[in-house]
Amino acid sequence: MNNTINIDIAHVAPGISVDAVKALAPEALKAQKTVEQGTGAGNDFLGWVKLPSTLSEELISDIEATAASLQKDCEYVVCIGIGGSYLGAKAVIEALSDSFSAYKAEHKNPRVVFAGQNIGEDYLYELMRLLDGKKFGIIVISKSGTTTEPAIAFRLLKDMLERQEGKEKAAKHIVAITDAKKGALRQLATEEGYHTFVIDDNVGGRFSVLTPVGLLPIAVAGYDIRALIAGAAEMETATTADDNIALTYAEARNALYRSGKKIEILVNYCPKLHYVGEWWKQLYGESEGKENKGIFPAAVDNSTDLHSMGQWIQEGERTIFETVLSVEATEHEVIVPMDNANLDGLNFLAGKRVDNVNKMAELGTRIAHVDGGVPNIRITIPALRERYLGQLLYFFEKACGISGYMLGVNPFNQPGVEAYKRNMFALLDKPGYEAESAAIKAKLNK
Ligand code: PA5
Repeated sequence: MNNTINIDIAHVAPGISVDAVKALAPEALKAQKTVEQGTGAGNDFLGWVKLPSTLSEELISDIEATAASLQKDCEYVVCIGIGGSYLGAKAVIEALSDSFSAYKAEHKNPRVVFAGQNIGEDYLYELMRLLDGKKFGIIVISKSGTTTEPAIAFRLLKDMLERQEGKEKAAKHIVAITDAKKGALRQLATEEGYHTFVIDDNVGGRFSVLTPVGLLPIAVAGYDIRALIAGAAEMETATTADDNIALTYAEARNALYRSGKKIEILVNYCPKLHYVGEWWKQLYGESEGKENKGIFPAAVDNSTDLHSMGQWIQEGERTIFETVLSVEATEHEVIVPMDNANLDGLNFLAGKRVDNVNKMAELGTRIAHVDGGVPNIRITIPALRERYLGQLLYFFEKACGISGYMLGVNPFNQPGVEAYKRNMFALLDKPGYEAESAAIKAKLNK
């Protein structure tokens, strides 16, 4: 087995040549130096760049001890957060978990469930039904401490926990991860005496998976955060070289974008990677989609989505390219059995591994899509283990910073996220939004 993730751009041909990709190398290297030296726009949000190699033993031990305490006391731990405050943990936990753990009785660690990532009333009702009478803990994560979705979920679950356990005991089962000083959550955590972790000012939400935001839920779920951090640190070192995997990815996607390929589809052939796709969409969408620029990040889960999106990808508008995440080794072996009746005609597969069929589906799809005009970038991951996921997360973060600078935007702000919030608060008559309320109501009544 390889011991590192890798990239292959040999099949970008329907869009551009490999030489055209490599022609962007000097520009990409300049962008990489801008990230590393902190000389570009948004340089007050570069705390993630050296995070893997600088996380202190004290912090890691505190995360592990806090996780152990929640594991000891709780059947369920609810992670409350949205966007960058939940997607990284969700992605890593899903990638490492048994696909059917929710239905299996045996479970060493608490079941980690998520809330505050939507405003679904039924979702919250059903979650509260699940937690009714159960021992549960809460990790509430909000950098600003004022985001509506997690604040509603926390208000409900805190109240429920306090009714079940009493205020004092409940406070021992609530951990808050937020700003060092600012925000409502910081104030509440101080008043109630919750154990807290800090999200540093210089780490934006979508780059925070390797802070307590991601590490604590991952540790509670029973996974090895030291291996995850070690993998990320390996990639931190690797991506400082003058020719590296992050540069290649940033060069390829910018060359493709400039040639008219405006949509990138992140493709997996392993259902456990679904949320890596969701995390990646936020990372790239929020970092690059601004000033009327940016590759639109989409994601599909194959082979499932070959039966739904496959037609569009094969023959729709030729503005797309694919980045395939390919896991080299599965954790388990399943062999297709022989069937004497052979009514399904599948005996030609008898004795073969299911993963062999999956890999041929991937290869066959690549050939078909490249023939159909869809450029292909392939990223291989040795296996779904903490170390390689750490490498993958950091690789995507570093490439995102480089790629954003090549695109000519500030990859570390997100001014567009505020627009819906303003309208929502105006519609809900939030105090302080009187003028906006009047304006939006007048607009609706037109
Ligand atoms: O990346 C981002 O900045 C956002 O997705 C935030 O993480 C998200 O909006 C949640 O914000 P907060 O952690 O302040 O509640």
